[in-house]
Amino acid sequence: MCGIVGYIGSEEAAPILLRGLQKLEYRGYDSAGIAVWGKTGLMVRKSKGALKQLEEKIGPDLRDGALAGTMGIGHTRWATHGEPSDINSHPHTDVSGKIAVVHNGIIENHARLRTWLKEQGFKFRSDTDTEVAAHLIDFYYKGDLLQAVMAALKKLEGSYALGIICEAEPDRIIAVRKESPLVVGAGRGGNLIASDVPALLEHTREVYYLGDREIAVLYRNRIDFYNEDGEALSKKTSHVDWDAAAAEKGGYEHFMLKEIYEQPKALTDTLRARISAGEQAARIINLEEIGFDSSWAAARRVVITACGTAWHAGVIGKYAFEHFARIPVAVDVASEFRYRNPILDPQDIFIIISQSGETADTLAAMRLARKTGGRIIAITNVVGSTLAREADLVMYTWAGPEIAVASTKAFTTQLMCLYLIALQFGLLRKTIGPEELAAALRALEKIPAQAEAVLANQEKIQRFASLQFNKNKAFFMGRLFDYAVSLESALKLKEISYTHSEAFAAGELKHGPIALVDGSTLVTAICTQEALFDKMDSNIKEVKARGAGALVITWEDTDYFNETADEIFRIPRTLDSLSPMLSVIPSQLYAYYCSVLRGLDPDKPRNLAKSVTVE
Ligand code: M6R
Repeated sequence: MCGIVGYIGSEEAAPILLRGLQKLEYRGYDSAGIAVWGKTGLMVRKSKGALKQLEEKIGPDLRDGALAGTMGIGHTRWATHGEPSDINSHPHTDVSGKIAVVHNGIIENHARLRTWLKEQGFKFRSDTDTEVAAHLIDFYYKGDLLQAVMAALKKLEGSYALGIICEAEPDRIIAVRKESPLVVGAGRGGNLIASDVPALLEHTREVYYLGDREIAVLYRNRIDFYNEDGEALSKKTSHVDWDAAAAEKGGYEHFMLKEIYEQPKALTDTLRARISAGEQAARIINLEEIGFDSSWAAARRVVITACGTAWHAGVIGKYAFEHFARIPVAVDVASEFRYRNPILDPQDIFIIISQSGETADTLAAMRLARKTGGRIIAITNVVGSTLAREADLVMYTWAGPEIAVASTKAFTTQLMCLYLIALQFGLLRKTIGPEELAAALRALEKIPAQAEAVLANQEKIQRFASLQFNKNKAFFMGRLFDYAVSLESALKLKEISYTHSEAFAAGELKHGPIALVDGSTLVTAICTQEALFDKMDSNIKEVKARGAGALVITWEDTDYFNETADEIFRIPRTLDSLSPMLSVIPSQLYAYYCSVLRGLDPDKPRNLAKSVTVE
């Protein structure tokens, strides 16, 4: 996720671009840049680090008028391809610096296009997927930027929102989007583009929402729209009523809710580029991008370590590896692992999971693993983080920045990565065959749409939360994958609603926890492991007999719990082994609504920090 802005009008562009980028910093903040068309042609300035660093760098240019110009584009980056650096910052240009491009999204066929463009003689400067777009547009440029962009779009696969300017065409900005957001603002003294409404509000509340593959051509005094074939479109403006703070959160009340709703897109981004296209039966997982080859699957054991929510993802990872790859797996909380003198072997493979890539205990665990000589795979959301730099292989969760302290989209995308690696291990170790792989891939590809369906049903959870939010005791229970989801569900609820919540393996109920169950307890039973439905049903009856209320999260097509549950929340059917990516969503929503109903701020829970960089 990155932020893009563009302005064309009668005022100085650079200050407008910088103010717009300030409003989009929540979308990415590891580097920033602008390109302004002015008297000396296209002027590009960029800098690694927060926007403040760019502002300091170009301060003298702004003061002495070196960046004067009334058309420009800007970008604030959340790195995906290539670590944060001056070179990898946007805008990117063609070789001659006459065409400048800012991009949000992921160009999935960038590697193939890069090879092809190099064969045509194009020289690359950065590691980004975006630079491919700049060269491609240049390749097709024959004096008409719009035609060149339309030709280039035919070659681009993946998701993108692009803002493009050309030195030879000082009277227009071209913007296009596919699966990444982009809004066009119709201002009085000029027109604008932005990834999100907050960057426009200072200038206008009249916006056009671009549809997939629609193109906007912004002039100083008009905006034209086209479809991908160049046919003119007529579009209507929408009036934005949100205040600036609400707009920053995309109209959601909190970042946490926005991030919960971003999960379908984040899951798609994390999955798509890693499954090869083509005939269903011949499709494979493509982990070459992370340098994964068959030697990895010869490991003696997989050791997973992480903290908090990332550790819960690791617990699910263990179950997934055992299920698909039949390989021994140890999973440890990093703060325990680092001090308990674990027995490790150079033949072990370590999977270290961290959204931030900066958690102190997790990094210490990784460094301990490093000493044994075993190889390390990092799963992280932050390109260029310490974890990413020190691991042997990195698999990024392409979730975009997670601002809320409570982790949601990072968790489900971590799961997606773990499933892909587990399946790849399974295939290489021959514990699953091509047919089982194909079935799993089909199921994985349905997950984003199924997550969307769970979210579409959120009102039911909201209503349920409005009846239960004052309960001070909440238990979550499940078996196998559902047990791990229970751990994550209890953590979500406790950290943002301050409800005392615990999770346990349902089979443990009689070994202690049932002593706490009474009429003031809400028990959520997560029930997606079909072979154990009867066991779960008995557990639910046991807690109900002690006066507890029971919410069941289960498949949409089963009536197994109709008689026992007080309330049922249903999720679309997938493989039992893949259920966590869907079954956790109702718990995220429930925790969110309990927090809000208790008058708390779910984005900033007391005593907690987003990134725990000290012990
Ligand atoms: O950045 P990390 O994934 O390493 O962070 C690990 C935990 O601190 C984090 O998951 C924490 O538990 C969250 N607040 C959970 O919502």
